[in-house]
Amino acid sequence: MQLGLDLGTSAVKAVIATPERGVVARADAPLQVQTPGPYACEQAPEDWWRAVRQVSARLAREAPEAWRAISAIGLSGQMHGAVLLDASGAVIRPAILWNDGRAFRECATLARDLPGIGALAGVPPLPGFPAPKLMWLAEAEPAAHARIARMLMPKDWLGLRLHGQAVTDPSDAAGTLLFDQARRDWSAPLMQAAGVARDWLPRILGSAEIAGRLRPDAAAELGLPAGLPVAAGAGDTAAGAVGLGVVGRGDGMISVGTSGQILLPTRRFRPDPDRMIHAFAHAVPEMWYRMAALLNGARPMAWFAGVAGARIGTLLDEAAAARDAPLCLPYLTGERTPHGDPHLRGAFWGMGYATSRGEMMRGVVEAVAFSFADAAEALAEGPLPSLLATGGGTRSDLLMQMIADLLGVEIARADDMASGPAYGAARLAAVAVGRMTPGDLAAKPAALHRFAPRAAVSRALAGKLDRFRALHAALAPLAAE
Ligand code: XUL
Repeated sequence: MQLGLDLGTSAVKAVIATPERGVVARADAPLQVQTPGPYACEQAPEDWWRAVRQVSARLAREAPEAWRAISAIGLSGQMHGAVLLDASGAVIRPAILWNDGRAFRECATLARDLPGIGALAGVPPLPGFPAPKLMWLAEAEPAAHARIARMLMPKDWLGLRLHGQAVTDPSDAAGTLLFDQARRDWSAPLMQAAGVARDWLPRILGSAEIAGRLRPDAAAELGLPAGLPVAAGAGDTAAGAVGLGVVGRGDGMISVGTSGQILLPTRRFRPDPDRMIHAFAHAVPEMWYRMAALLNGARPMAWFAGVAGARIGTLLDEAAAARDAPLCLPYLTGERTPHGDPHLRGAFWGMGYATSRGEMMRGVVEAVAFSFADAAEALAEGPLPSLLATGGGTRSDLLMQMIADLLGVEIARADDMASGPAYGAARLAAVAVGRMTPGDLAAKPAALHRFAPRAAVSRALAGKLDRFRALHAALAPLAAE
């Protein structure tokens, strides 16, 4: 059995899986995001560790046999986060997350100083990425910046706690704007531009290589045997793709979680920065992927449920029954693909006296679907392949059907309980200890539900998509800094 740990934004998710039986047990522990100011999104790494302890205790209690049979651990995590450590290994300040938008001025500096940055780093400068965030920190918090001895991505900090080694993998290094995607190594010009010292950065190992062995202190805290092998693992988008078997050319994934992605594996590194496409190293050797990355995913639905003070399931039922909906923009924390604009924010337009919360929720669902349509248009070079879907947001049939209609492709929803980044991490651990071959990672889960595109609905939605785009175009100038 392998333990897969996914350090997400809204929760730490853990699965115990075997190559033959898939997921046999799982547990989640929630996480909060702190927003100490405009554009800011942070989490304290100690809270991540507490959540890892919680999921471990639950699995040990609820699935004791599986827990005792764990032979390896694999890691996945939210990408682009910067965990900063001093020379003693202590965390200097809360981690600055992938959806933090404070470093937007530094992005303009990087783009000006390194005009070819997108073709090297796989993506144009975006404020959620570590390189501009470190530049921002040097200005905003010089004392904290002066103490930096190491910078790790979230799952790699977890790795350090587990096995004591500072290690990352190509798929997580890919999301730093410090990584040469074609060479799959740290880039001297990018490090220099961001003022980053080489020895701040972790060693890069393959995602399915053993990064270290469980330290006695971590083993005692988690109730696992010391010495268990820990695989390097992958950033959550790549780990999610591995969980679904989306590792080869012709495969495709749509992920609808706190963030959202459409991801297509490629055999070569194929940058396309002008369209805000992310071209990143995959978690399997000598593969890359092209990805449309959305900052908002299904989060606007959860956000509106919170504002309306109602359960998300109730609101989705009301939205499915609603015949009309106001226009909505879903950009709660700006947007990456296709806009690359950290200043965008959410909006509703077109409400009247009779507008109900169910109609507003329908507007939110449509807005999420429209943002995926924009993402797909930026990504598509021809017809998209059918997409395997994962993530909590895919549980909404209303949303999934709308996206299938808008994209004009079939979407097959896998069992969210038995897929996702934590399962991908467990699969990478299985490869690391020889329980699976790298070729086995192409195996796909059985689809639970298929959403076929309906041309007539697609035509009806297209008109509203045009109005959605017009609303964005009208409001974007108001959002500018
Ligand atoms: C990927 C991305 C998100 C984060 C958080 O580029 O920003 O997937 O990893 O989930």
